[in-house]
Amino acid sequence: MSDRNYLVLLGAPGAGKGTQAQLLQEKLGLPQVSTGEIFRYNLKNQTELGKLAQSYYDKGELVPDEVTIRMVEARLEQEDAAQGAILDGFPRNLVQAQALDEMTAGHGGVDVVPMIQLDDDVVTMRITGRRLCRSCDRVYHIMFNPPRGEKCDSCGGELYQRNDDKPETVQNRLYVYYKQTSPLIGYYFAKGLLVEVDGAGSIQEIQEQLLGRLAARNIEAAGRSVRV
Ligand code: AP5
Ligand code: MG
Repeated sequence: MSDRNYLVLLGAPGAGKGTQAQLLQEKLGLPQVSTGEIFRYNLKNQTELGKLAQSYYDKGELVPDEVTIRMVEARLEQEDAAQGAILDGFPRNLVQAQALDEMTAGHGGVDVVPMIQLDDDVVTMRITGRRLCRSCDRVYHIMFNPPRGEKCDSCGGELYQRNDDKPETVQNRLYVYYKQTSPLIGYYFAKGLLVEVDGAGSIQEIQEQLLGRLAARNIEAAGRSVRV
């Protein structure tokens, strides 16, 4: 019996994991746990973790597993994750996937893995136009999802472009994705957890598709209602 819901959002860099996770967390009442965001927070504040992650992050390489796994384990133990979490950017290889299985085993394991599909050329366009809020991490796109003004619509924070969104780094991130992360598609398919989502529509269309897939998997069975 599963007393917590763990969702893993899979998809290439720029496929829309963060955008969808941000919307989904309000609907499901589960926190978004984005390893990329945790690293960005630590980079910004130049913590020990941030200094360690910097060289990997800036090149689009994976931060070492032992560091990342420990970080996620600690995050999933926090109070707001007592009902589960929406994982965005973790796991990113088989070692991390097995670690997540162990972390969640006492709560029925991972429940569902939506895989957001999108062509590489669209992904590249989405990444290069992305802007983020320095204060609340809200994600925008200069063409597809622009803020109303120059500041963040939610909190008035300053908008910036990620260090790793430069074209040469984006190429390497795609390479790392295909080499290390894409085997997870087979891993979760074999467990019967994978659901495919077409990432090519509007943000709202994709959200509705996603909610439909989750409802079909009875994600609301744990006491939360999924509303489209
Ligand atoms: P991370 O932050 O996870 O980056 P990523 O996987 O490369 O994914 P992105 O955040 O780039 O894309 P996204 O899918 O969230 O898309 P978004 O919603 O923003 O990781 C960064 C780095 O941290 C890694 O390279 C690594 O160094 C390190 N790291 C992280 N996790 C790790 C781990 N587990 N192990 C080791 N290292 C790790 O959307 C993209 C853009 O498109 C936005 O501008 C958005 O507004 C726009 N958009 C979204 N949806 C639509 C739509 N439907 N139509 C039009 N535009 C849209
Ligand atoms: Mg993201």
